[in-house]
Amino acid sequence: MQSITEIKSLRSQIKAWRQQGKSIAFVPTMGNLHQGHFSLVEKAKTLADKVVVSIFVNPMQFGQNEDLDNYPRTLSQDKQGLAELETDIVFTPSVDTIYPNGLDTQSFVDVPGVSEGYCGGSRAGHFRGVATVVTKLFNLVQPDFACFGEKDYQQLQVIKTMVHDLSMPIEIIGVPTQREVSGLAMSSRNGYLSEQQKDVAKVLYKVLNDAANELKSGERNFSQIELDAKSQLENAGLKPDYFSIAHRNTLKPAITEDDEFVILAAAFLGSVRLIDNIQVTQ
Ligand code: PAJ
Repeated sequence: MQSITEIKSLRSQIKAWRQQGKSIAFVPTMGNLHQGHFSLVEKAKTLADKVVVSIFVNPMQFGQNEDLDNYPRTLSQDKQGLAELETDIVFTPSVDTIYPNGLDTQSFVDVPGVSEGYCGGSRAGHFRGVATVVTKLFNLVQPDFACFGEKDYQQLQVIKTMVHDLSMPIEIIGVPTQREVSGLAMSSRNGYLSEQQKDVAKVLYKVLNDAANELKSGERNFSQIELDAKSQLENAGLKPDYFSIAHRNTLKPAITEDDEFVILAAAFLGSVRLIDNIQVTQ
């Protein structure tokens, strides 16, 4: 595995591969890698000749009161995991490499519509930061495929929409959420939770499943399902941020005529914000 930090070296390796006719799959991450990330790398390996993984904790997507400074950084362990999977390149640029002129004068990419509401509503500027850094990384890596987790469902839809709207020649692949045995979606932020808190956190997926079962059984009183779910979360000790039934692709609030749904949820456990979702097709 090549470990690259500079844009020039990355570009020259990508160019060499292109000249050899190699295809490239890309997995962008912020590190502190777990089985969720590794499942994206495994998927990427099935798609293309070469796999590039980036590790970059992107300051542009963090809000002022968020956990940028404390975000878990475990670079040597991450590299070891990626080497075991025979990743071809791990790209770990510095903040100055990605944003040489700082964040204030940086051009940006906004994806209206899908980025509004849900996490976009609670985290102002978050999806602008995600869309901008992913565009920059796409321009550097120039992949044929890029893999994103369904765990961050709104992010996946934002990236799919961006690639479509801006005619980027990249196929976006969604990869199913990897979970702990308890059902808790794997996340770098789970490391902030005690064992006791993890027992509470797993309720989020259970409540999502209950709501999904109601939809499957034909219930269409969406706001009642949402209200019931929020009170179940509160009873378990979670503080719901949102719990919303939406159309699976547009993320617009569900209407009775829909037959493809996604239930999106975010809840606080202490200062840790958990997100999860479940798709329901009739
Ligand atoms: P990060 O949170 O590190 O996640 C990197 C990728 O791993 C994302 O596509 C995310 O959806 C996926 N992922 C995380 N947990 C997962 C799980 N339990 N199962 C499956 N996939 C999972 O998402 C980001 O970083 C950043 O916003 C990024 C796209 C890198 C832009 O900075």
